[in-house]
Amino acid sequence: MKIYGLTKDRIIEAVRGGQVRIAIFGMGKMGFPLAVAFAQEGAQVLGVDPNAALVEAINRGENPHPLEGGLEGLVRPLVERGKLRAVTAPERADVYITLVPTVLDANRQPALGILEEVMQTIASLLEPGDLVIEESTLPPALASSDCGRSSCVVP
Ligand SMILES: NC(=O)c1ccc[n+]([C@@H]2O[C@H](COP(=O)([O-])OP(=O)(O)OC[C@H]3O[C@@H](n4cnc5c(N)ncnc54)[C@H](O)[C@@H]3O)[C@@H](O)[C@H]2O)c1
Repeated sequence: MKIYGLTKDRIIEAVRGGQVRIAIFGMGKMGFPLAVAFAQEGAQVLGVDPNAALVEAINRGENPHPLEGGLEGLVRPLVERGKLRAVTAPERADVYITLVPTVLDANRQPALGILEEVMQTIASLLEPGDLVIEESTLPPALASSDCGRSSCVVP
């Protein structure tokens, strides 16, 4: 269900009713706990990550990031109820969230290639009413007054 433009109360109702599909790109230390939190609230969560071993561990109901405490015991029931599923190949969703590596290159310049590639993938899946949320770390120049337009992230 598309939530863009709905009231806050209606969005909460839709998420808790399992009507909202959320795809989170990057099942790392940030993306995975967020996936568990949304699934706990009732959303249908798809974790997208090219790391097949990580994806398999999540689908077995394991917490692949033991240092991220508090997740033990939560993952398996969510997987068994079909609330949380991990994949290596992206699928359509209503909300897309990016939490992928954004690092510095050898010249200490931001290397945003992974994020740009993920944004292109999301762009190919988008339908009217979808929501895209970028949560990876970005350099301040990209998070300046130009932000708010998708072109400030992926030209
Ligand atoms: N760890 C923190 O405390 C923290 C805090 C705030 C912000 N951040 C930011 O969040 C982002 C993610 O950080 P993290 O700590 O979760 O990183 P991480 O290295 O733990 O996880 C990143 C995940 O992204 C996956 N990935 C790589 N390429 C991908 C692709 N093309 N599609 C989908 N997934 C892909 C990796 O396999 C990995 O599992 C970074 O921009 C980081 O700066 C991290």
